Amino acid sequence: MSTSIDYTEKIPNNVNLAGDRKLQRALEEWQPNFLQWWMDMGPEGFQQDQVYLRTAVGVDKGGWAHFDYVKMPDYRWGIFLTPREEEKLISFGDNIGKSAWTEVPGEFRKELRRIIVTQGDTEPASVEQQRLLGQCAPSLYDLRNLFQVNVEEGRHLWAMVYLLHQYFGKDGREEAEDMLVRRSGNPDSPRILGAFNKPIEDWLAFFCFTMFTDRDGKFQLAALAESAFDPLARSTQFMLTEEAHHLFVGETGVGRVVERTAHLMKEAPEGDVTKAGGVPLEIIQKYINEWYTASMDLFGGEDSSNAATYFAASLKGRFQESDDKKWPDHLALEGVYEIDAPVGGGKLATEEIPMRRAMNLVLRDSYSQDCERAVERWNKSLAEAGLAERLALPSQRFNRAVGIYANMPFDPSGELLEPAEYDRRRDSFLPTRADLAYVKSLMVSCTKPGEFANWIAPPRRGINGQPLDFEYVKFIRN
Ligand SMILES: [Fe+2]
Ligand SMILES: [Fe+2]
Repeated sequence: MSTSIDYTEKIPNNVNLAGDRKLQRALEEWQPNFLQWWMDMGPEGFQQDQVYLRTAVGVDKGGWAHFDYVKMPDYRWGIFLTPREEEKLISFGDNIGKSAWTEVPGEFRKELRRIIVTQGDTEPASVEQQRLLGQCAPSLYDLRNLFQVNVEEGRHLWAMVYLLHQYFGKDGREEAEDMLVRRSGNPDSPRILGAFNKPIEDWLAFFCFTMFTDRDGKFQLAALAESAFDPLARSTQFMLTEEAHHLFVGETGVGRVVERTAHLMKEAPEGDVTKAGGVPLEIIQKYINEWYTASMDLFGGEDSSNAATYFAASLKGRFQESDDKKWPDHLALEGVYEIDAPVGGGKLATEEIPMRRAMNLVLRDSYSQDCERAVERWNKSLAEAGLAERLALPSQRFNRAVGIYANMPFDPSGELLEPAEYDRRRDSFLPTRADLAYVKSLMVSCTKPGEFANWIAPPRRGINGQPLDFEYVKFIRN
């Protein structure tokens, strides 16, 4: 295991792929299929252009990124793992204190495969969801960020496919093939998880996706970075360093829309930003309601025997599990998690879930706190603009399709409504067709360096110290 990446290989890697000819050959057979998938399902209309992208050059802390113009199909997708710690010990669950596993234990093979396949499937899914967005990018800066996210999601697929090929034999290779067969939103062969089949047709949806749905990814990856299965832990650790940029794109993206809207609210007649070509705060709030709740579903049921098994078997920990101050008890055999559960008749009552069975919920709470922090930031910019309006995350009970609140008519404040009342007010909770059409009507392609669409504020600074009017994408037209 080295900290530098070998780019002379057909598949760049730091796992000494050349030392395992059989594995190398199998992955080299998968590679052209991946590239074909990228050409078919990757960013449409930009495959010949030169994009200012970062590529990983090393996996050690700091300075891992190299920035240069790259034609996307030439991006060096590869296999990069955080270096192994000597003597790594398992930090939680029933196997605590034992040496971390370098091979898959037979008894957890099925569970680990399922975890890796579920994570892996989200990566190409998001590329598919975003493939048409380039055609209406609000600036070259944003276009470049979209493509950076896309190529790195492709890289994350490589990370999971490597694990499948290396550790799961024939069925691992079959799972890797299936990753390129399923398609986001396809009714016959959809992607595995709900939020990854939702269309992303405008940039506000893209920013909400990278803010809320990619952030679920951050917490899932962080939980897997604690795994006793060391190759999975080290793969996801390195993925997290790439993921940070995706979350930045989402959080600052929504923030820039809020900032621009605040500005237009003060200028537009009667504060009606639609008259000035901006996105009304109410629509932003509805997008937040939709994407936050769809992302909450990704954590799974509140009371979950799978979650208990994963924790007990030391396969999946909590967020920052190894931090003894944060989690003094790494066994979680005692204690309960209290939750207000529906008990019929429109009532809620406190229910106790044994701690291990509540691990999805514990992880989701860490996620929600992180989202809350971002919303506070957005609200700060509303306050600074002298506005009284504020954005908020909806209740965990609202608009859920998974878990104990699934398909129940809670409003965004968490109050249970009569179904008819919910239907009557639904359009004030979630984006309507008219809202979506309006936002779509604002999407115009801005491709001059330094130019930004009217509905979004420019960012504070450019990428990698470059100015805002830097030519982040060079169009090659033939
Ligand atoms: Fe990813
Ligand atoms: Fe991501």
